[in-house]
Amino acid sequence: MSNRAALLPILSLCEITRSFPGVKALAGVNLELHPGEVHALMGENGAGKSTLMRVIGGILPPDSGSMTLRGQPYRPRSPRDSKAAGIAFIQQELTLVAELSVAENLQLGRMPHRLGWVDRRELKRRAQAALDFLEIELPLDQPARTLNVGQGQMLEIARALQDQADVLIMDEPTAALSQKEAEHLFSAIRRLRAQGSAIIYISHRMEEVYDLSDRLSVLRDGATTGTWAMSQITPQQVVAQMVGRELEDSQPGPRPEAGPAVLEVKGLTRHPLVKDVSFQVKAGEVVGLAGLVGAGRTEIARLIAGADPLQAGQIQINGKAVRLASPAGAIAHGVGLVPEDRKHQGLVLGMSVQDNVSFAVLKSLAQLGWLSPQKCAGLADRYIQEMRIRTPSRQQAVGTLSGGNQQKVVMGKWLARDCKLLILDEPTRGVDVGAKAEIYRLIEEQVAAGKAVLLISSELPELLRLSTRVLVISAGRLVAEYSREEATPEKILASALAGLA
Ligand SMILES: Nc1ncnc2c1ncn2[C@@H]1O[C@H](COP(=O)(O)OP(=O)(O)OP(=O)(O)O)[C@@H](O)[C@H]1O
Ligand SMILES: [Mg+2]
Repeated sequence: MSNRAALLPILSLCEITRSFPGVKALAGVNLELHPGEVHALMGENGAGKSTLMRVIGGILPPDSGSMTLRGQPYRPRSPRDSKAAGIAFIQQELTLVAELSVAENLQLGRMPHRLGWVDRRELKRRAQAALDFLEIELPLDQPARTLNVGQGQMLEIARALQDQADVLIMDEPTAALSQKEAEHLFSAIRRLRAQGSAIIYISHRMEEVYDLSDRLSVLRDGATTGTWAMSQITPQQVVAQMVGRELEDSQPGPRPEAGPAVLEVKGLTRHPLVKDVSFQVKAGEVVGLAGLVGAGRTEIARLIAGADPLQAGQIQINGKAVRLASPAGAIAHGVGLVPEDRKHQGLVLGMSVQDNVSFAVLKSLAQLGWLSPQKCAGLADRYIQEMRIRTPSRQQAVGTLSGGNQQKVVMGKWLARDCKLLILDEPTRGVDVGAKAEIYRLIEEQVAAGKAVLLISSELPELLRLSTRVLVISAGRLVAEYSREEATPEKILASALAGLA
């Protein structure tokens, strides 16, 4: 640290502010970034992290305050300016062009030309080099829409890393990554740091922040509360800085006796991702699906929620065989899916918080003629309060909320609806520590009321904390089952890997 501390900061921010109608998103940010450091930025959902990144990246001008880059005043007017100044960033939401190929997405805005034509060979060579740097493989000629969320995120990262930037800003890059993908990213980050790049790393995952970072700054309500070397601050102190109070560890609530099976699947099959999977979820149970990303868990969820057709097998709800031809059909049977890709499947971004929460209940209630505006408003206010959704009002368009707050609206929307079986695919992705505890509490409230929950989470501590039973899926098959008492991370991982052999 000593030789590093002697260096001048490459980027300094002084009293940066920025407001939106009804929200002071940034209220005085001070930050010094040194070359060769990974500088973590943590804060609650809506604290202003992504807004700050957009200011540094030239997407949003600040209202006041100043920035200095390599000792010179820095006032970017567009992302092009920031790029020319050697700043690259990876945004929280994916910005890929669905119909372009992986290679074209990687080279977007820098297509190699020869004699006026796009040089396809050179295009592929450069795209391959970008993937090699991250030590990952993706199909260069496939359109980006065929990638899963994790692969899309890796593509986005590979694109930003090719710029060889002096300053690199990453906004929750691992939110959609598997453990293995995340490790590729971490080793790339360490190489970039060794080359002298400065990295701002935004994340809600305490473990990886401690693993990766040299220093940490905390944002609370749009202002920095301080900067620490990682060795100077404990995770509990970080949380206290973020929320402005001590937070108790949330303990698992008591579980009711399991009731009759709400869901039973037999021989569930859809090639090549799901092979002959059978299990039950009983009333009052949270059944966790563990496995590596790509193991087939999301696909199993989609089959049960009617989003994809079965090739073989049977689904029973409350003991009766059903054919679920569409998500609407599944909902009619009381099966709700909170999808992993909230931006495309979970929300109508142009609509208000209230309308999004009411949306799921609208149909059933309106027919009965008692969905009054007051009821909708009351429902929205209840979830805004319980899940601490940060929004100026229930009328705010969901698209303007921070990423984590959008995720909370998705959850609220599905909890508001009376489902017998809730399928939750990564329910706390991008959600801060305080709100995570709230979501756990709401899930436990559901099962205490006799609902059944099928849970997918790539965060093992979360899966173990919530599940009554854990099923391990590997290469599309159910390979092991553990009770709450038996389940450990080691056993789960061993089963997941053994299933690949
Ligand atoms: N375009 C916009 N219009 C209105 N309000 C906005 C806009 N962009 C951001 N905000 C508000 O600014 C605040 C900060 O949002 P920001 O996205 O920076 O939070 P964040 O710290 O990145 O949160 P998360 O951890 O959930 O990603 C939030 O209250 C958000 O609703
Ligand atoms: Mg954000």
